[in-house]
Order: sequence, then structure tokens, then C-alpha cells
Amino acid sequence: MSRKETNKLGGENYVMKQINRYIDSVFYSDDKILEEVLASIKENGMRSISVSPSTGKLLTMLVSISGAKNVLEIGALGGYSGICLSRGFGRDGKLTSLELVDDYAQLANQNLSKAGFENQVSYMVGPALHSLEKLVSENKRFDFFFIDGDKENYENYLNYCIQLAENGAIIICDNVLARGTVADEQAEPARHTEFMKKFNQTVANHEQLESILIPIGDGLTVSKVRK
Ligand SMILES: C[S@@+](CC[C@H](N)C(=O)[O-])C[C@H]1O[C@@H](n2cnc3c(N)ncnc32)[C@H](O)[C@@H]1O
Repeated sequence: MSRKETNKLGGENYVMKQINRYIDSVFYSDDKILEEVLASIKENGMRSISVSPSTGKLLTMLVSISGAKNVLEIGALGGYSGICLSRGFGRDGKLTSLELVDDYAQLANQNLSKAGFENQVSYMVGPALHSLEKLVSENKRFDFFFIDGDKENYENYLNYCIQLAENGAIIICDNVLARGTVADEQAEPARHTEFMKKFNQTVANHEQLESILIPIGDGLTVSKVRK
């Protein structure tokens, strides 16, 4: 059977899945709080599209290593990545999270509260582009960004994040491997394959960014902003 046929049968990303399963099994330990977040997402009939456990751990480490204290997230869902980001700054930081759906922002807020970040997170509900425009007009600045909202707007989000960034800020974008299809000519293209190929080129060649792609979860670009 050809690789393309395997992909059509759902074998798509087989290697990626195996590698991620391996990384999760070796480097991730059970985490009751995050497990409860995943359960709450299911209970509320929401899609299970939080970042992978190892992606979450990497987010915590990147915030912590960079020393970021003022984090902006685009796409909250149930708060899984929000908790991981907040763990990186501990008691001494702030998360601003942009979410389209009010019910999702409320669930994320509940989950962040349960995780002990009640007074360190604020949600801006509505289309992220509107919230970003507001943040720009208020001259806000952030030192860490996590972009995980609607993929079609990634390039717009990237441009806004650069405007809102302190010099040296970090910008992380999720799902940039489009389930591995950006790298596999024979794979059946996924919904965002072509889009992510173009986006990765933009990130890689942006004159204000120094960037690399880390193939954990569905792939993350990590960029440092030069201003
Ligand atoms: C992949 S999920 C985010 C998962 C979350 N970052 C996590 O790992 O826990 C994408 C989220 O983006 C939100 N979203 C989609 N379009 C949006 C928009 N235009 N503005 C703000 N949020 C949006 C969705 O409602 C959804 O909650």
C-alpha cells in the first residue's frame, strides 16, 4: 500500500503520532489539574483540541526560561494552554487571553481559577482581531505570545503580536506542521497545509524575527522579536 493510501486510511501522521506518544510517555507525568481541564472540555461538548501534554510542558518551560511576565494568548478554549503558560511565570505574571466564544472563556477562567491563577488572568471575548486592535490602541506591551486561534488569521495575528511585542519577546505559533502534511509531498493535504507552508516561510524569512520550528505536538514555531 502506498503512503498516500495509508494516509487516506487515517495512517496520516503515523510517525508524528508515534514520536509524540513516545515524548509524552517519557517526559510528561500525570497532572490532575490538566486532566480535569480535558474532562471539563468533553463534558461541555467542546472539541478536544487543546495543545498536547508535551506542548503544554514546553510552553511552561519557554515562559519560565525567557523570564516572561506579561503573556498574550490567542485562543483559550478550556484553559489548558493558559494554565501551562501561567505556570511558567508562577505568582509573578499576568496572562491576557483572547477568545471568540464567551462560554469557552468562562470555562477557561474557571479552570485557571482552580489552578490557582484566578487573579492573574483576564479574558477579552470576541474576534481576536478586534481585541488586538484595542490592545494596540491602548499601547499595551507583552513579552510572550502564544498564537493558537483560527489558522486563517495567523499572519494577521503575527503582525499584531510584533506590534505589541517588547524587544526580545517570544512568539509561539501552534499547528504549523498541519499534522505533518507540510513536510510530506505524498500526504493527502489537510485543511491548512498550503496555508501553513506559506505561513512558515513568512515566519522563517521575517526581518524582525529569528525563528525555528519545533516538531512537538502539531509543530510550534518559536520566534524572537527584534525591534
Ligand atoms: C485550538 S483552540 C485553542 C486551544 C487552547 N490554546 C489550548 O491549547 O488550551 C482554538 C480556539 O480559538 C478560538 N477562536 C477561533 N476563532 C477565533 C477568533 N477569531 N478570535 C478569537 N478566538 C478564536 C476558538 O473558539 C478556540 O477556543
